[in-house]
This record gives sequence, structure tokens and C-alpha cells, in this order.
Amino acid sequence: MSKKTSSSIGHDPLAWMKDDVAPPADDVAPEGGLDLEALESSFAALAPAGEELTRRFYQRLFADYPQVKPLFSGASVAEQHRKLWAALNLVIAQLRKPEVLAKTLTDLGARHEGYGAVAAHYGAVAKTLLGVMAEMAGDLWTERVAKAWGDALNAIASIMLKAYRS
Ligand code: HEM
Repeated sequence: MSKKTSSSIGHDPLAWMKDDVAPPADDVAPEGGLDLEALESSFAALAPAGEELTRRFYQRLFADYPQVKPLFSGASVAEQHRKLWAALNLVIAQLRKPEVLAKTLTDLGARHEGYGAVAAHYGAVAKTLLGVMAEMAGDLWTERVAKAWGDALNAIASIMLKAYRS
């Protein structure tokens, strides 16, 4: 039996993430929705390097976007790493349960309004995460995988931001 390969947890593509490059013909992503196969397989490949990935992510985020550093003053570095990794694991685990994932992300978004995260920060986080994942995944980072993660982070940000009260 074939597995469902797309999901619709919401789409509201941000202009900066748009990627007009078509995937190679022999590596075709499903039409519409999220590319669950590409997300799950690339995440499984990156999982053993999760600690290094999150370490690099924060190092780069704070170097490239020093303005977000004060937002994190309440958490230790180790704690931040653990939370990011836990969140990514949870999102991947819930990809095939879009209604559950939407609720998780709505609650997460409401808390992020309280942390002081604004719309522009989501672009910074996504760009940094995509860059670090690409670096760590090496040859596994195909255009299909890059697009799958760009779309997923876009959808995640859009659901989280919808939960903001202002
Ligand atoms: C891809 C989107 C994001 C995901 C999945 C995510 C995930 C998380 C998770 C799971 C936590 C732990 C606390 C909680 O569950 O409420 C957290 C905390 C936090 N996040 Fe995010 N986040 C995202 C985007 C952002 C952005 C764009 C910012 C702004 C720069 C941000 C800033 C923070 C801050 C300041 C904390 C609190 C740290 C602390 O003091 O404990 N996050 N995030």
C-alpha cells in the first residue's frame, strides 16, 4: 500500500522563500501539500547529527542576526539546543497528522508572541536552519529536499503567526 505523501497543514508562501527551480525529472515531488517523503528521509539522515546541527544553528543565528539574541536570554544554550531539536522531532513525527500538528503549532505560535518573536524573525530562523541543514546533509541536500524544507518552514511560520493576537 502506498503511503500518503502530501499534507496540507497550510500554505502561505513568503516571497523570499520562493524557489522557481523545478526538481529533476527522476526525483519528482508530489503536487501540492508538503513533500513528506523528502522531509522524513532527510530528517532521518540528519538525526544522528542533531546535536551538532542545533549547535551550529544557534551559533549562526546569533552571528548573522544579533538582534534576536536578547529574546533568548531566559534559556541556557544547552536548553535552547534541546528545545529546537525536540520541536523539529515533534513536527516530523506529526506530519502525517495535520490536525494535531496544526494545534501544536498554533499553541507554539501563541507562546512565541510572548517571547517577542516577530514575523521577520521567522525568515531569519528558516534561512539559518536551511543553510545549516544543507551544509550537514551534503549530497543528500537535493533541490527536492531543499524545497520540501523551505515549504515546511514556510507553512510552520504561517500557522504560528496566525496564532498571534496582534
Ligand atoms: C520554525 C519555527 C519555530 C519553532 C518550531 C520553534 C520552537 C520552539 C520551541 C519548541 C521552544 C520551547 C518553548 C515552547 O515550547 O514554547 C521555543 C522557544 C523559544 N523560541 Fe522558538 N521556534 C520557532 C521560531 C522562533 C523564532 C522565529 C524566534 C525568534 C527569534 C524564536 C524564539 C524563541 C524564544 C525566545 C524561545 C524561548 C527561549 C527560552 O527563554 O526558553 N523561535 N521555540
